[in-house]
Amino acid sequence: MRILKPITLPDGRLWRGRFDGLTRLLHWLTVAFVIFQFASGLSFETLEGTPTFPFLLMLHRTAGVALWLITLFRLCWRSSFATFPPFPIGLPHHMQWAAKLTEYALYGLLLLQPLSGLADTLLRGRPFALFLWTIPKLLPRQIEWSLFAHQLHEWGVWALMAVAGLHALAALFHHLVLKDDVLKAMLP
Ligand code: HEM
Ligand code: HEM
Repeated sequence: MRILKPITLPDGRLWRGRFDGLTRLLHWLTVAFVIFQFASGLSFETLEGTPTFPFLLMLHRTAGVALWLITLFRLCWRSSFATFPPFPIGLPHHMQWAAKLTEYALYGLLLLQPLSGLADTLLRGRPFALFLWTIPKLLPRQIEWSLFAHQLHEWGVWALMAVAGLHALAALFHHLVLKDDVLKAMLP
């Protein structure tokens, strides 16, 4: 990743620059996928037993695996060709650390959450639909471990909701209260 150098505008203000286009695209694509995962996952209870349920579960698994791949690609892009603005000048050290910690936690959760969902599915020991394929039974049915993976998946939902909520509120706080360009740097 390359950190941009702030430039001085003709009116004397400093311009930090923005995240590169692909980073911004991947960020908002991730947000759309996470919203879909929450919306689909949280409607499972209501839809269970209806003909819509298996189709929605297939979409949920597919989008979740796609999100995992997007996150891996995003991390590769971040560590190679991405360009990032520096932190706003004067942003206290503890706020820089809080932002970094939240963002690493988000990357961690985006990688772990699909894995607990996939483990839950595989440990049910049945064939299942993913993308356009039917994946055959890959593991013997181990219901206790499947329930454990399900429990991890549920905890992951709350953790992701809390950290992403905090992160979004922080971005809005920068925009509306501190009136800096933190949010603008990530907008499409
Ligand atoms: C970031 C990605 C994901 C998020 C945010 C997410 C979110 C959710 C939510 C909110 C639920 C409902 C939890 C509940 O029971 O109250 C759920 C259930 C579930 N998810 Fe995910 N999920 C993700 C990825 C995946 C993936 C990749 C798979 C499988 C390949 C998967 C498989 C499942 C299964 C099997 C259930 C339980 C369905 C049932 O009740 O039978 N999830 N998920
Ligand atoms: C599902 C929800 C979200 C997830 C998973 C998420 C994830 C992330 C991650 C991982 C980063 C770090 C980028 C990097 O350093 O590589 C980031 C940065 C950022 N996000 Fe989000 N985000 C979410 C929602 C939002 C929302 C709703 C907003 C705006 C209201 C937002 C605004 C920003 C901004 C402004 C940055 C750059 C922060 C900085 O300069 O350090 N995000 N996001």
